[in-house]
Amino acid sequence: MSLPKTITIDGPAASGKSTLGKRIADSLGYLFFDTGVMYRAVTWIALSRDIDINMKHLIEQLAEKIDIDVRPTTIDDGRVADILADGEDITWQIRNPEVDAAVSQVSTYPGVRKALSSQQRRIGLRGKVVMVGRDIGTIVLPGAEFKIYLDASVEERAKRRYSECMARGEMVKYKEILESMRRRDQIDSTRDIAPLKPARDAIILDSDRLSADQVYEQSLILMEESTKKISH
Ligand code: CDP
Repeated sequence: MSLPKTITIDGPAASGKSTLGKRIADSLGYLFFDTGVMYRAVTWIALSRDIDINMKHLIEQLAEKIDIDVRPTTIDDGRVADILADGEDITWQIRNPEVDAAVSQVSTYPGVRKALSSQQRRIGLRGKVVMVGRDIGTIVLPGAEFKIYLDASVEERAKRRYSECMARGEMVKYKEILESMRRRDQIDSTRDIAPLKPARDAIILDSDRLSADQVYEQSLILMEESTKKISH
């Protein structure tokens, strides 16, 4: 089978994009790139410097200046990669609930999207990459050979995020996670620039009743089918 050079996975929060993307990337020897960490990094740096997240221009300037780096893990604490912002390790800080609550607003700012998507595109166009996000198949890499849109109900996604937080020892409430996720879905899918939606040529997978293993197996079958179609 001739493999797609670039694979994109888009979809709403906690639909399982990162788990699936990492697994596909590892099995093909591709780079796994989770673009959400870049939006989270800008948000975390703004919050930690007490910058009001409504100050669009300040946040846009920050996104242009900040040096975000994703590197192989140096610490064995369950992380997939080391996330650095201006040299500081912020791998876990970007997962906290304050970032969850603010990141979607930060992601609506045109200057933020421009700064981050051009970096993403540069990495994506090198090929051999599985890139995960909200607008990868539609805006960042519209020419990607294989595109998945991974969906699941908001209740199921909130359940998964709740379990992840509890496993990390964070005391969170399911109801609050559910509400925060609904708010984020609403902002992500109605924003003017690069809203969350499936690309026209994306394969839509609903993961509600599927285990992570089943989603992975299903994706490989779909990838094989789509590769056959392209080569005929
Ligand atoms: O991990 P989770 O699915 O909760 O979110 P994420 O992928 O880390 O993304 C966090 C937020 O960044 C999303 O809610 C979007 O607002 C924004 N984002 C975006 O606008 N475009 C992307 N390509 C990736 C993330």
